[in-house]
Amino acid sequence: MNNKIYKLGDPGGKTSEMILREGSLGPATLDIGTLYRDQSIFTFDPGFMSTASCESKITFIDGEKGVLLYRGYPVEQLAEKSSFIEVAYLLLYGELPSQPQLETFRYSLRRHSMVNEAVLRFFSGFHYDAHPMAMLTAVVGSLSAFYHDSTDIHNPKHREVFAHRIIAKMPTLAAAVYKHGTGQPFVYPKNDLGYCANFLNMLFSVPAEPYRMDPVAAKALDLLFILHADHEQNASTSTVRLAGSSGTNPYAAIAAGIACLWGPAHGGANEAVLNMLKEIGDVKNIDKAIARAKDKNSGFRLMGFGHRVYKNYDPRAKIIRATCHQVLEKLGRDDDPTLELALRLEEIALKDEYFIEKKLYPNVDFYSGIIYRALGIPVHMMTVMFAIARTVGWVAHWQEMISDPHMKIGRPRQLYTGAVKREYVDIGGRK
Ligand code: CMC
Repeated sequence: MNNKIYKLGDPGGKTSEMILREGSLGPATLDIGTLYRDQSIFTFDPGFMSTASCESKITFIDGEKGVLLYRGYPVEQLAEKSSFIEVAYLLLYGELPSQPQLETFRYSLRRHSMVNEAVLRFFSGFHYDAHPMAMLTAVVGSLSAFYHDSTDIHNPKHREVFAHRIIAKMPTLAAAVYKHGTGQPFVYPKNDLGYCANFLNMLFSVPAEPYRMDPVAAKALDLLFILHADHEQNASTSTVRLAGSSGTNPYAAIAAGIACLWGPAHGGANEAVLNMLKEIGDVKNIDKAIARAKDKNSGFRLMGFGHRVYKNYDPRAKIIRATCHQVLEKLGRDDDPTLELALRLEEIALKDEYFIEKKLYPNVDFYSGIIYRALGIPVHMMTVMFAIARTVGWVAHWQEMISDPHMKIGRPRQLYTGAVKREYVDIGGRK
């Protein structure tokens, strides 16, 4: 392949050659790695508007066309035909598994579903009304104090054990977070259940009576987990990569990703959408809400709308929207007026000049909360759901980075605009 070369430099000075690297899909990327060495200048791109932070083979997004591929497979096909565990295998290992590979992977995840009892004791230190994401960040971080047998990040076998462990333990920890908040006893994993059914059982069963698992609920959860499993270099994944690039303990790197996901501009949006819909309350108040979202001084945004990459309908939102009615109906929750309100809000916003001009479309979080709520999951647990699914993506990216022989610690530079060098003034001489 003939890569295009850009040249930069002052006449008479040193010329830098920057190669325009072509990926297999998507825009070409200008490799500026030698720019500072040759020209003593940095590039400036706050928010990474035009910056590819790494090379990756995991997930591809075409934001203009609304395309999302996991390892080359369209998310629509995976949502229709695959399962979350199969997708997890695909993201981690790069290929769809054969039947024996899938069984071995499932078996390994089952074997790692319990957490050390000492981890569960940490919960007694949390107040009953602690936010679930605060607890999840802390307990996942605390896993770095355990499992020392498998945290040599330069050992591929250790990395694999870590990957299986964290994916297997996330539902157990997430359910413990919920149980602590409700004051109910923790429920241990049941390894004869599938990943999502096991999670629902740990969430909702109590020792006092049998819990009837609704297979429709487990299936709906599986679909939502597939759609949230990865999304290339989003804020939390980039956080995991940056934290992991120092060679830190991988559980600590995942905890950093969870902390980032919590924010309302990222994974916290699903919780924010339901709070917003509750606040709007009725179709008659939609116009007022839209007017507020357009008013920069209001500090209010239409949650679940807009995306850094998608300038078209988020394909994940399209899938959830299409299945929402069906799932609610099957779960006997089709009397929920929230879906009608969301649909109407979307309809009005998509006809509004402000949203059209800025290419603001519903994103994955606009509809996901409505399904989660129909499954009985409370609003403040919704970002935890996102974290369970996204753990797969975080781990896949961490693995890809650590196994790259050219990996370097992530260390951005800055445009310094602070005080120039000055002399220390004793306290008595200060103004
Ligand atoms: N409501 C009203 N105006 C908006 C919205 C919104 N939801 N989103 C963006 N805008 C406006 C924004 O004010 C700005 O206007 P102007 O150019 O006049 O200053 C313009 O659109 C571009 O917005 P931006 O904040 O510069 O865009 P960004 O790419 O930095 O931010 C975003 C993307 C997702 C943070 C933003 O659209 C947003 O805050 N949306 C609401 C929160 C949300 O739903 N987040 C979930 C993202 S999807 C799940 C995930 O992957 O985490």
